[in-house]
Amino acid sequence: MSSVVKGLEGVVVADTALSEVDGENGRLVYVGYDIADLANHATFEEVVFLLFHGHLPNRRELSEHSASLASHRTLDPVVIDTIRALPVTSEPMDVLRTAASALGAASHFTGPASIDHATTLIAGFPTMVAAYDRIRRGLEPIEPREDLSHAGNYLYLLSGEEPSEQRTKALDTYLILTADHGLNASTFAARVIASTLSDMDSAIVGAIGALKGPLHGGAPALVLDMLKEIGTPENAEAWLTNALDHGVRLMGFGHRVYKTEDPRAKVLRALAERTSEIGFFKLATRVEDLALQMLHARKPQNRLYTNVEFYSAAVMHGVNLPDDLFTPTFAISRVSGWTAHVLEQLKDNRLIRPASHYTGPWDLKALPLDQRQ
Ligand code: ACO
Repeated sequence: MSSVVKGLEGVVVADTALSEVDGENGRLVYVGYDIADLANHATFEEVVFLLFHGHLPNRRELSEHSASLASHRTLDPVVIDTIRALPVTSEPMDVLRTAASALGAASHFTGPASIDHATTLIAGFPTMVAAYDRIRRGLEPIEPREDLSHAGNYLYLLSGEEPSEQRTKALDTYLILTADHGLNASTFAARVIASTLSDMDSAIVGAIGALKGPLHGGAPALVLDMLKEIGTPENAEAWLTNALDHGVRLMGFGHRVYKTEDPRAKVLRALAERTSEIGFFKLATRVEDLALQMLHARKPQNRLYTNVEFYSAAVMHGVNLPDDLFTPTFAISRVSGWTAHVLEQLKDNRLIRPASHYTGPWDLKALPLDQRQ
């Protein structure tokens, strides 16, 4: 029996043409395009098309694809009823997981996973998250608008007001940067479920569960908590020293694959500088600088750098999203990658079923119940 690779680090379990994470050189590529290039020259809708079709859309393709996404924004009433039935104190990720499951149960898709099915999920996620946010605030969910972009419509659904171009662009850039990322934990979860020939909704519900954890997509609100607790640049050194002395993991730093700066962090830092209040951005950069110095001094062998979540928190805070919608907003983006991976998995499927190394006892004898101690 070969030895266990804890956390499957470095184990290659799938071919993919969707994205490549180059951890040594700090590069992330979607279907051949560098993410910084896409962030500057494409929209989220274009990136979704790229993941599904393997090329960037021309004008006609984009218009059809955007119209299709926009036309699926209104949810089956069963989904809204399900959201209404949940306590208003529920965590938004729990609500999204439950609503996505309800959407699947109510959907008419029965055959193999398809782009149409994926489109329904991608289009429905912002409506579900915003509906819950309004319901918990005692407001009625509002009808999605087909004339707004994916990012613009999401912001509109939350506030009821048409967002500025700057806010929409900032959120759109965030959605582009987090759409796909190789075989991260939630995408792997989706591919495992798809490999059993279960349905696409089940794969996506599983992926939502995996994304929720703080070692994956659950970190950005915790980054904000950390920054709020630190409060001022002057407090940063003492706070970080104390945290590291107590073995606390600094949220927004370290990555399984990147052994240099996460390329998404670079783009998001520049975006945060434009979208955050000056004082907040100064605090974030001071905390980042000190955290990097301390992590490098204390754990040089681990090569810990800023990951996507650190400045995601600043950007989402800058576009006025409530803290507990940061991870659901990550899901609004990543559902594009999840569904593209499900479709890719099914093109050349084999059940994903790894082995385990048994460490329990052998040859025990089951005594009748009344003879057991
Ligand atoms: N702060 C302090 N120490 C850290 C951090 C951190 N952020 N990240 C890793 N380390 C240390 C660990 O304590 C460990 O030290 P040790 O060997 O002395 O015990 C060492 O670095 C290796 O850590 P692992 O957990 O083995 O690294 P792994 O590759 O499994 O974890 C992870 C990567 C989970 C992202 C980790 O760096 C982490 O916990 N970061 C903080 C949470 C975070 O930012 N999550 C978002 C990740 S990005 C995303 O998923 C979208």
